[in-house]
Amino acid sequence: MCGIVGYVGGQDAVPVLLEGLHRLEYRGYDSAGIAVRTKTALRVHKSEGRIQQLEAKLPARLRGTTGIAHTRWATHGEPSDRNAHPHVDCESVLAVVHNGIIENGTALRAELEAAGHTLRSETDSEVLAHLIEAAEGDSLEARVRRALARVEGTYGLLVIDRASPDRIVAARNGSPVVLGVGDKEMFVASDVAALVRHTDRVVYLDDREVASIRPGGFSTTTLDAKPTTKTPSPVAVTDEAYERGEHPHFMHKEIHEQPEAVERALRGRLDRDFGVAHLGGLNLSARDLLDVRRIKLLGCGSAFYAGLAGAHMLERLTRIPTDAEPASEFRYRCPVIEKDTLYIAISQSGETADTLAAVREVRRKGGRVLGIVNAVGSTIARECDGGIYMHAGPEVAVASTKAFTCTLVCLALLAIHLGRIRDLSPSDGKRLLGALERLPGQIREILDRGEAIRGIARGIMKRQDAFFIGRAAGYAVALEGAQKLKEISYIHAEAYPASELKHGPLALVSAKTPTVAILPDDDLYEKSLSSIEEIRARRGPVIAIAHDDDSRVREAADDVIVVPRSEPVLDSILMTVPTQLLAYECAVGLGRDVDQPRNLAKSVTVE
Ligand code: AGP
Repeated sequence: MCGIVGYVGGQDAVPVLLEGLHRLEYRGYDSAGIAVRTKTALRVHKSEGRIQQLEAKLPARLRGTTGIAHTRWATHGEPSDRNAHPHVDCESVLAVVHNGIIENGTALRAELEAAGHTLRSETDSEVLAHLIEAAEGDSLEARVRRALARVEGTYGLLVIDRASPDRIVAARNGSPVVLGVGDKEMFVASDVAALVRHTDRVVYLDDREVASIRPGGFSTTTLDAKPTTKTPSPVAVTDEAYERGEHPHFMHKEIHEQPEAVERALRGRLDRDFGVAHLGGLNLSARDLLDVRRIKLLGCGSAFYAGLAGAHMLERLTRIPTDAEPASEFRYRCPVIEKDTLYIAISQSGETADTLAAVREVRRKGGRVLGIVNAVGSTIARECDGGIYMHAGPEVAVASTKAFTCTLVCLALLAIHLGRIRDLSPSDGKRLLGALERLPGQIREILDRGEAIRGIARGIMKRQDAFFIGRAAGYAVALEGAQKLKEISYIHAEAYPASELKHGPLALVSAKTPTVAILPDDDLYEKSLSSIEEIRARRGPVIAIAHDDDSRVREAADDVIVVPRSEPVLDSILMTVPTQLLAYECAVGLGRDVDQPRNLAKSVTVE
């Protein structure tokens, strides 16, 4: 969603800001803008559409060493030049960029207009520029603090002012702001992706914190002006991790990076002697974990589907009742929080607003939450009581792939860890660790079948609808497969437990509706074969993702994608990979914008 970038230092700010905006493009946006303090004035340029359109509009001689920039994903008001950020006050002497939602924006707008302010856009964000204009204080940060005291809602905010040279004021409440510390220069952004080219030392602002940023450093206070102390921390991610390299799309890159990503997720976490997993960040002792009577996994979209698959792993290996729930629904049903339940929030970005709200709901009611998060230092990672980093590396494509598989690897490690505290034997633990170690090689084997999968995708992409079926953890894989196909190819896809076919969806099965069947060689194999036969009896084409292409599967399905055998509890990891490739090949074949599908953003930071 919206991205913010700021620069103050000795360099020409414009190229730094534009390059930062390009780094944030992956988050999704529909307009862009920049404000630069030149020697004499504050210059603001904005454009609907891509950053290239903004660049085309910029005067060649736009120069200044302090500036802020923004990519907007419309919430209040249509995408347009007028609604693009930065927004300015009545006199155009100060400019703001804002991520988040000002909940009392309508009331504040009415009040400001009654006081004589002229607002030029339909956005809630513009209100902030006028509130700061109206606020009293002896410095820009004092005025920002005073203005924000009136605001209800969320913000990641940057402000520059003609009268305060070499200074950016930043503030955060519910929307990330990260400072990048350079040598006599400072960077600030909503995402470390925009900073890693310039610095490896960052400072994450906390909610209700305000920073005053100058070339030589920064100071921070709370909203009520109490100084806070922040220490820069290193960022491990390099700039190259955000490059597409030789790959045609980021999604292609990220699918093919999965073997290395899984290796990273496992690195240093396997104790082969005792058949246990080392998970240092849990912050829970074996004794704490023995008290766990129930596990609840929370996440949105693919993170929720990973939770559903992980719930099967956890329940099977620990015998602790486990379920998954969409984080976006969780807090609205006034959930009962139990002290012997372990809550686990799953999020690639670590910034998903609904997942963060679920974490806060649990903690507010006294529950314990672990995070399984990819983005190091992200809000969810910092607000959880402990957790496991996925170590998948930056995921840029909107469609989640490597973060999904790494989540399942982390959940498998957690299941082994919890299982070994309970009834899982050392030999079972060792066997499972061995199977985890084989996963990278097995994923490579699946990726090597890419050509055959492309051929199968050609059949699916001609269709308007598709079904995905599976049972138990295979149903979670089916949900994720259907999600991938619809989000990037725009083919309508629905997932059903295979057992539910007869209860409704069979009515829609015809020669025009391909079904992708997740068919692991487990206790339900025979039943799943029967479901496939029911589809074939209605002339529905079936693509089976199975361990074998023996005569029975060949007879049952039109096409078979074979995945290597693993421990049954890990099947969901391997069986997901072909569904990613199928979706990718369909989207490419249909000429879709694979990495930035319509209407979607990488990180959903608003409700
Ligand atoms: C995945 O392909 C989707 N784009 C989406 O469902 C995503 O998984 C969801 O928005 C959650 O994001 P998060 O993992 O960053 O919290």
